Amino acid sequence: MEKMVVLGGAPLTGRVEISGAKNSAVGILVAAIMVKGKCRIDNVPHVSDIDVLIEIINNLGGKAAFVAPGVVEIDATELNSFEAGYETVRKIRASSYLMGALLGRFGKARVALPGGCDFGVRPIDQHIKGFKALGAEVTIEHGMVELAAEKLVADNVYLDVVSVGATINIMLAAVFAEGTTVIDSAAKEPHIVDVANFLNCMGANIRGAGTDLIRIKGVEELHGGSFSVIPDQIEAGTFMIAAAATHGDVIVSNIIPEHMESLSAKLAEMGVGIEEYDEAIRVYAKDGEPYVAANVKTQPHPGFPTDLQPQMATLLATAKGTSIVTENVWDNRFKYIGELNRMGANISVEGRIATIEGTPYLTGAPVSATDLRAGAALVIAGLMAHGVTEIYNLKYIDRGYEGFEDKLRSLGAQIARRGSGRRAEDLEEETTTA
Ligand code: EPZ
Repeated sequence: MEKMVVLGGAPLTGRVEISGAKNSAVGILVAAIMVKGKCRIDNVPHVSDIDVLIEIINNLGGKAAFVAPGVVEIDATELNSFEAGYETVRKIRASSYLMGALLGRFGKARVALPGGCDFGVRPIDQHIKGFKALGAEVTIEHGMVELAAEKLVADNVYLDVVSVGATINIMLAAVFAEGTTVIDSAAKEPHIVDVANFLNCMGANIRGAGTDLIRIKGVEELHGGSFSVIPDQIEAGTFMIAAAATHGDVIVSNIIPEHMESLSAKLAEMGVGIEEYDEAIRVYAKDGEPYVAANVKTQPHPGFPTDLQPQMATLLATAKGTSIVTENVWDNRFKYIGELNRMGANISVEGRIATIEGTPYLTGAPVSATDLRAGAALVIAGLMAHGVTEIYNLKYIDRGYEGFEDKLRSLGAQIARRGSGRRAEDLEEETTTA
């Protein structure tokens, strides 16, 4: 089985370029199937979630491919199917956007209930509430969601839960609906703004994305064009935390610093050095002293992102004092804590609250990623730990981080990806020759 082998202890130093946002790119790629004409999208991270979506779009009769590094071209003019089955859809959560996009384009859609990382129950009731408000009949049978509308007509939709997926899906379904749809209590994540900007560039009329009130005035059609995906806020945050965790000095570049404010403030509160530039943030250890414990509560944007919660809890594992991490978005996103404790962390979990008693250091061990961000967190734990850590279940990390270990290695990390059968003791030689 493939694994990542990390020899801890090396402070990360240098500059790292952040890729395009995975969660934005998946929304934009699906939105592009509503366009008759060619869309050229750049700054797309080459991660497995994107490959799966490209496969889905081609299966639906569209044409999508990477035509250069970071550049995907999509032409959905001939796309003729409104049905996406279980085999591919189950692999990624963002395939739920096919519901809104296909419904919007064809007035009907048949899409398998989506998969994705397992953080407990992942309902889609708010998506369905929105589709129904626009006039769609919704049936769920045999694991498929079936949507059909004679005609989509705008309405006001109030979301009972702030949901990224429902906000994007309703926005998509409303692009061609007659009249002006209003989404109230919408999610405000940067990638929602990015999907709205993409659609507007292609001829849609969406106002207010990034606030909790989004207005979508239906248009007749969308046309092709070019668009560039925003930098990945979560990848940036992961590298910022890794820099702090190894007591290094890293410039995290090609980012939008305002997207990082909740994390930058929390790191500064712990005693990490932070310097902001126009499109970069420098993260550095001011001295060799341990950081100070802190309390973190995840919230929808602009609050502290749930997608940085595992990485942050890992950093807090060696901070001085007791930290409380409260997960307010997902009901079960602490599955990785058992693995961190196997590396010497002292963390107890009760429901949505993790209590972290800081320990002076972690020690390397074999561990398994339980989801995408937990995988990144375990790599950070490996970089912090004394000795060698082996991380298994790399398919999760590959879903969302482009060239993760290459980027870490360029910052001085002792990290290598290996097949089964290698001995951990070979690492030092392997990393210097990799
Ligand atoms: C998006 O998932 C992200 N995925 C997730 O990132 C992220 O964790 C999440 O937003 C929260 O920020 C993508 O953008 C592809 P939600 P999504 O709908 O849209 C509840 C990563 O690591 N809810 O905002 O599926 C739900 O149960 C991934 O990159 C309902 O109750 O999340 C959860 O508690 C993992 N009913 C909360 O809302 C609904 O109909 C937020 O979910 C929908 C959601």
